[in-house]
Amino acid sequence: HLDELTASYTQALIDVRSRLPKELRVPKVGIVCGSGLQGLAELLQDRVEVNYAEIEGFGESTVRGHQSALAFGFLGSKRTPVVCQLGRFHAYEGFPLEQVAYPMRIMKLLGISVAIITNAAGGLDPHGEVGTIVALQDHISLPSLTSMNPLIGRNRDTLGPRFPPMSDAYDFDLRLAAFRAAKALGFKKGTLKEGVYAWVAGPTYETKAEQRFLRAAGADVVGMSTVPEVIAARHAGVRVLVLSLVTNIVVNAPYRSAEAAFEAEERGEKGPLSDLKSGGKEEEVASHQEVLDVSAKRADDIRALVEKIVDGLADE
Ligand code: 6GU
Repeated sequence: HLDELTASYTQALIDVRSRLPKELRVPKVGIVCGSGLQGLAELLQDRVEVNYAEIEGFGESTVRGHQSALAFGFLGSKRTPVVCQLGRFHAYEGFPLEQVAYPMRIMKLLGISVAIITNAAGGLDPHGEVGTIVALQDHISLPSLTSMNPLIGRNRDTLGPRFPPMSDAYDFDLRLAAFRAAKALGFKKGTLKEGVYAWVAGPTYETKAEQRFLRAAGADVVGMSTVPEVIAARHAGVRVLVLSLVTNIVVNAPYRSAEAAFEAEERGEKGPLSDLKSGGKEEEVASHQEVLDVSAKRADDIRALVEKIVDGLADE
């Protein structure tokens, strides 16, 4: 199994490199473009796209609004060579986590030392605002704490250690660079924040009890991606910046109590049920369309932010 996979890594590198001009073969930064944020690739100069279908070991991402290619090119005024991952693999699509993490490992083997990962996430802070960008400071990975981790299996010693630490996974300097870039771009104060991401396997959105649970555990945003990629990147020594776009606020409206309604009925009163029947407000629920709409609105800002941060890296 391991030999087969190692062969697949080697072949993937050949597949990619053979399609690239020499100047683009060693990207410095890998950028993972989340839901609705793939427009970032349009900023690439001298862009060359390699479809997943042409690369050994890549499957097809099945999510609406996701493409399936690696886009190479120069980004920003310093013409930094980068690679954009357009279309990611999610656990909820049924992919093994090794597959979810595979593009990150290929990008590392191609030469990246920094990963900038974007995603769309639900905001758990009831006072938070849709459209806020959150630079991750840490994560809670319930799936990894129990049984789902991309590093489960024989360790790939050539990539990294058996027991990699995750206590400092999110690079301080990159986060600081993000805040400086946001200021330079004239972002309103509070549009970029720092916070903790809870990874859930999905595809179901959280129940109300789960929302409270994650909030109480210290998470600021919740989503169905990113953490497997972060783990693979950190395992291999790649510095990580994650920008989560809050596409919806997790509402956590109070329960409609059947017990209370029943008791009101018993007393001959009109209960909360009758309000709802007479055209009471429909409860809000999370939707994928909302996620795509908000990311479309904020995509330009995220593009500009990523470009600015990459320009800053060129000075390092
Ligand atoms: Cl509310 N939950 C999860 N798990 N993922 C999301 C989301 C919510 N909003 C965007 N992505």
